Amino acid sequence: DKGGWPSFMAKEVSEEPEAVANTLRGRMRDGQVVIPELDGLDGLFAGITRIIVIACGTAAYAGMVGKYALEQWTRVPVDVELAHEFRYRDPVIGADTLVVSISQSGETMDTLMAVKYARERGAKTLSICNTQGATIPRESDAIVYTHAGPEVAVASTKAFVAQITALYLLALHIGRVRGSLSPTEAAQQVLELEAIPDKITRILHLEQARIEQFAAWMADTRSVLFLGRHVGYPIALEGALKLKEISYIHAEGFAAGELKHGPIALIEPGQPVFVIVPSPRESALLHSKVVSNIQEIRARGARVIAVAEEGDAAVLPFADEVLRIPLAGPLFEPLLAVVPLHIFAMGLATAKGLDVDQPRNLAKSVTVE
Ligand code: BG6
Repeated sequence: DKGGWPSFMAKEVSEEPEAVANTLRGRMRDGQVVIPELDGLDGLFAGITRIIVIACGTAAYAGMVGKYALEQWTRVPVDVELAHEFRYRDPVIGADTLVVSISQSGETMDTLMAVKYARERGAKTLSICNTQGATIPRESDAIVYTHAGPEVAVASTKAFVAQITALYLLALHIGRVRGSLSPTEAAQQVLELEAIPDKITRILHLEQARIEQFAAWMADTRSVLFLGRHVGYPIALEGALKLKEISYIHAEGFAAGELKHGPIALIEPGQPVFVIVPSPRESALLHSKVVSNIQEIRARGARVIAVAEEGDAAVLPFADEVLRIPLAGPLFEPLLAVVPLHIFAMGLATAKGLDVDQPRNLAKSVTVE
């Protein structure tokens, strides 16, 4: 039931605040993270020396975002790998490895095979999954469910923000179990997480209509590039994936620092480029680097669409369009910056008259390898 929305995707984007809130619910007590499903499982986290996150598609981009928080709060090195690549390259894993899989459906065959393989090789496995009782969580040593609710549109939206939320909860939990994070530090991050649902709602209220109108103006565009740095990088990849998936427009995401090593050759007059701009308050250095990337592409005629924090005036002279997100700590910006990109992809595909829920050639859950 679309509940009055024109598409399941529209409904699911509108549910992004609840997807985060429901994934947090019941997992915080007195300012600390408490994950009931992980009760008695501290042993899974005690002796590990590395974490490998495996997933496919949008879930893999959630994993890339999660890496920053996992490393920062647990001080355990983290690799993020596409499940189908991991499985076939004889990875170096063992009892000291925690393999965290991420899957909305819990049935993606590539991810399932990688989890089974990791288990056979003696690694510990933890599943982040949105579907109760699905195969991947059943094959794993531990489960942290996302509570995004059923996701029907093929292109994942609310599950993505829920996956990042679950990874952050997990990172805080492991950080506390291993003692790499103090209760005070953990409590600060919990406050940031709790504030996210209202901030997403604010984006939907203040920016959705404007972004949809802007996306409709861009319906004839043939190619869109996305640039991001640090946690903005996986968001650039996700923005590009969503646009390809549902609007069939060529789209590519790049690490902003990589621009001069190749992608800048693609910039010609009129080329639309989305740039995820880090907060100037939280990371002045990263911010200034991304602003200089914007100047470089603008000088070559790019049409710059900046996704920037409210009040960031530094981007104004160089951006053709600024999509605003509320203020948040640096690790939390991805949960906000992705929302305008989801709205944009949906708005553009809708303007082209496409079926945003059932894009051609794609399936919601790919149960073959
Ligand atoms: C793809 C879907 O086939 O599978 C994507 O079209 C999704 O939307 C990916 O991100 C992974 O799916 P899952 O269920 O493992 O998260």
